[in-house]
Amino acid sequence: MKKYDVQKFELLSNEQIADGIFDMRVKNDELAPLAKCGQFAHVYVPSKTLRRPISVCDSENGVLRLVYQVKGEGTKIMSEMKKGESVDILAPLGNGFKIEKGKRYCLIGGGIGVPPMLYTAKQCENPLVITGFRNKDLIILQDDFKKAGAELVLTTDDGSAGIHGFVTDVLKEKISEVDEVCACGPTPMLKAIADVCKEAGKPCQISLEERMACGMGACLVCAVKVRKNGEEIMQHVCKNGPVFNAEEVVFNG
Ligand SMILES: Cc1cc2nc3c(=O)[nH]c(=O)nc-3n(C[C@H](O)[C@H](O)[C@H](O)COP(=O)(O)OP(=O)(O)OC[C@H]3O[C@@H](n4cnc5c(N)ncnc54)[C@H](O)[C@@H]3O)c2cc1C
Ligand code: FES
Repeated sequence: MKKYDVQKFELLSNEQIADGIFDMRVKNDELAPLAKCGQFAHVYVPSKTLRRPISVCDSENGVLRLVYQVKGEGTKIMSEMKKGESVDILAPLGNGFKIEKGKRYCLIGGGIGVPPMLYTAKQCENPLVITGFRNKDLIILQDDFKKAGAELVLTTDDGSAGIHGFVTDVLKEKISEVDEVCACGPTPMLKAIADVCKEAGKPCQISLEERMACGMGACLVCAVKVRKNGEEIMQHVCKNGPVFNAEEVVFNG
């Protein structure tokens, strides 16, 4: 059975859901159902040579949901794609989060790292989800997490909505209520989460982001340093990740 492929997806909708953030739904009955939580889709953008990696936010009934922020030219072009267009996507790629039955998970998303935690929440029983944003204009997916049955906590850096503070402030208070932590977001946030988990003796999986080209382990663009059996080695975020055991990641600085 195929694990991934490159195929055309039909664009069903592509709507703005927050300041500079879009929610794209694309249909392909063969590839969408293969997606696991934490994996990503490599999206071809017309006129650009390299595909753009976007996490699987959800997969249901043959429809992949991709929630993305307009950063540069590629994502700007994506935001202008219209219903009915055909989108060329290589998917699903990467390893994804490992979710075990019987464990209570704390899922943490920071900013545009929040989308992959929705599909992850749907694989968990009674997850605690902590979402953090810079301010209220960037808040996304709160109703979706509630529908997924999550205990949901919202934080903003400037206090314009939810708890005024960082996701790690909430994690420190609630870490005793969970067995394991999964997180996606900016690197300083991931490092802070990894430190809290280490101190509490809780396992932690983190989804890393690196610039990508091939997306399949062939070009070495996305290399990161990890420590395995006491030895530092390079691995590919696209193929060995994007999800890594936090204890193994060698953070720069
Ligand atoms: C595994 C993974 C999952 C991701 N999931 C999401 C998501 O769900 N939602 C979302 O908004 N963004 C996500 N990103 C980041 C997203 O891929 C970049 O924001 C996007 O590629 C920027 O493209 P651009 O053309 O708009 O920007 P430009 O800066 O013009 O891009 C130039 C080149 O750099 C690459 N690039 C730029 N920034 C990044 C980056 N942060 N990561 C990887 N490649 C980059 C682009 O793919 C392109 O090849 C993810 C990145 C990775 C690695
Ligand atoms: S993007 Fe080519 S090896 Fe990862």
